[in-house]
Amino acid sequence: MKIQNLLSLSTFFTTLLLQTQIFFSSSTPFQVPKSNSTKILVLPLKTQKIPNKLPFTHNITLTVSLAVGTPPQNVTMVLDTGSELSWLQCNTTRIDRPVFDPNKSLSYTPVSCSSPTCTTQTQDFSIPASCDSRNLCHAVLSYADASSSEGNLAFDNFTIAGSKFPGTIFGCMDSGYSSNSDEDSKTTGLMGMNRGSLSFISQMGFKKFAYCISGSDFSGILLFGESNFTWLLPLNYTPMIQISTPLPYFNRVAYTVQLEGIKVSEKLLPLPKSVFVPDHTGAGQTMVDSGTQFTFLLGPAYRALRNEFVNRTGNILRVLEDPNFVFEGAFDLCFRVPLNLTGLPKLPSVSLVFRGAEITVSGEQLLYRVPGEVRGNDSVHCFTFGNSDLLAIEAYIIGHHHQQNVWMEFDLERSRIGVAHVRCDLAGQRFGVRH
Ligand SMILES: *[C@@H]1O[C@H](CO)[C@@H](O)[C@H](O)[C@H]1NC(C)=O
Ligand SMILES: *[C@@H]1O[C@H](CO)[C@@H](O)[C@H](O)[C@H]1NC(C)=O
Ligand SMILES: *[C@@H]1O[C@H](CO)[C@@H](O)[C@H](O)[C@H]1NC(C)=O
Ligand SMILES: *[C@@H]1O[C@H](CO)[C@@H](O)[C@H](O)[C@H]1NC(C)=O
Ligand SMILES: *[C@@H]1O[C@H](CO)[C@@H](O)[C@H](O)[C@H]1NC(C)=O
Ligand SMILES: *[C@@H]1O[C@H](CO)[C@@H](O)[C@H](O)[C@H]1NC(C)=O
Ligand SMILES: *[C@@H]1O[C@H](CO)[C@@H](O)[C@H](O)[C@H]1NC(C)=O
Ligand SMILES: *[C@@H]1O[C@H](CO)[C@@H](O)[C@H](O)[C@H]1NC(C)=O
Ligand SMILES: *[C@@H]1O[C@H](CO)[C@@H](O)[C@H](O)[C@H]1NC(C)=O
Ligand SMILES: *[C@@H]1O[C@H](CO)[C@@H](O)[C@H](O)[C@H]1NC(C)=O
Repeated sequence: MKIQNLLSLSTFFTTLLLQTQIFFSSSTPFQVPKSNSTKILVLPLKTQKIPNKLPFTHNITLTVSLAVGTPPQNVTMVLDTGSELSWLQCNTTRIDRPVFDPNKSLSYTPVSCSSPTCTTQTQDFSIPASCDSRNLCHAVLSYADASSSEGNLAFDNFTIAGSKFPGTIFGCMDSGYSSNSDEDSKTTGLMGMNRGSLSFISQMGFKKFAYCISGSDFSGILLFGESNFTWLLPLNYTPMIQISTPLPYFNRVAYTVQLEGIKVSEKLLPLPKSVFVPDHTGAGQTMVDSGTQFTFLLGPAYRALRNEFVNRTGNILRVLEDPNFVFEGAFDLCFRVPLNLTGLPKLPSVSLVFRGAEITVSGEQLLYRVPGEVRGNDSVHCFTFGNSDLLAIEAYIIGHHHQQNVWMEFDLERSRIGVAHVRCDLAGQRFGVRH
């Protein structure tokens, strides 16, 4: 899933769809073949013991910088735990964004369409890989706005924090979706990190990865490999949910967890647990998605949270009474905050209660100041939880905005996600990451 580039204001749903990119590559049922065929599973022991660490910045999207090819070309990729295939923009005639030039890489090798990578490992793509006129494996990734990104599957040598990952499979895209987003103009592509066999993490063969997004300075760290360090708080783990039968709306390669409730301050909203359980079609799963900025909740849960939040803030916040203003098509609870106010009033916290773990969102992270939107002497701030129903998303999505200052560990071996509230800027310093 990648719901980003939601930067521009859109008060109309149709406008929004054009600006919203949702990866469908992973929304169909998947068989997850365990990939052990790639040579990159042979990693230097040193790398696995001392995790690779990458500084990353986030501002609408989380991005990581690395090098690809021989000689290495620097690329910036959006970190997306919600999608599978990593890709780079390879069309060198484009001037609107950075590109990777395969012609300048000695180690670039396109995947032929008869190779098992093309025939077997792409089975989970929503649009089957095909053969182009040069007998190369052609992949099409489609988005919710009906635009698509297409190109050849290829291998090249990736270099991450000094470690080499030869023969990494990615999509070398010729044609991309058009988007005016400022963010797109800064990134070369996307790093797919879900549980599918072609995702970056599956190819690298690490059993664990973790990230920590700072709440203050658009920075963070990403670690591949073992990350139990004594100074870290003990993590609380929530199991990843697996459903073995393929269901139309259940994404089997997503990081799915079980939401069990939502609290405002310490009060648990009176919602039956059944609203958080995927139904017989698979709709209603909860995904942890670093490729999505904010959090989306299905209608019943969203409405309950909205009502409670409005009630709790009735005397400190003024609701924006404008039914035509829905931020990014899904965020219909917005407030007017006087421009001369130096900070937000003290807000009740919102906690997402998972089986075995909890993420609490408080303070400034609950409201997002909509850039450029002013009413009288007031700025407009929207509640950072949106209504999935308004975007016809059949799932709960925990976006990266609410993962700030939370150590997020993805333990693939034990099929669980660990969380702990920490100061990510300090954690970054402990790892010696500089930005
Ligand atoms: C995984 O490795 C085993 C043993 O090395 C081999 O028999 C098997 O074919 C491999 N599987 C794949 C998908 O490459
Ligand atoms: C983040 O985005 C805002 C608004 O577009 C911009 O003003 C700011 O400079 C950006 N910060 C970084 C670190 O890119
Ligand atoms: C690529 O990045 C490295 C490390 O940040 C830097 O030293 C190098 O100059 C960059 N190369 C190019 C061509 O920008
Ligand atoms: C790479 O070189 C070939 C042959 O010169 C050319 O047809 C192709 O367009 C080039 N690709 C890119 C991405 O520049
Ligand atoms: C890419 O990596 C592979 C495996 O380490 C290596 O054999 C190959 O020489 C590399 N390619 C180049 C052009 O360096
Ligand atoms: C590369 O991008 C240009 C400009 O966006 C476009 O006209 C051209 O068709 C693209 N090339 C391919 C092979 O898709
Ligand atoms: C991580 O911690 C667990 C429990 O403390 C320990 O059993 C395991 O060996 C540790 N792993 C590493 C790589 O330090
Ligand atoms: C909040 O809800 C309580 C109980 O339903 C009600 O008495 C109170 O007036 C509400 N407060 C606001 C600000 O809506
Ligand atoms: C903000 O401006 C309003 C008038 O627009 C004034 O009544 C209020 O006292 C000001 N608040 C602060 C904190 O300056
Ligand atoms: C904004 O504040 C100024 C100074 O407090 C005041 O003169 C003006 O009338 C206010 N404008 C609106 C639209 O409220």
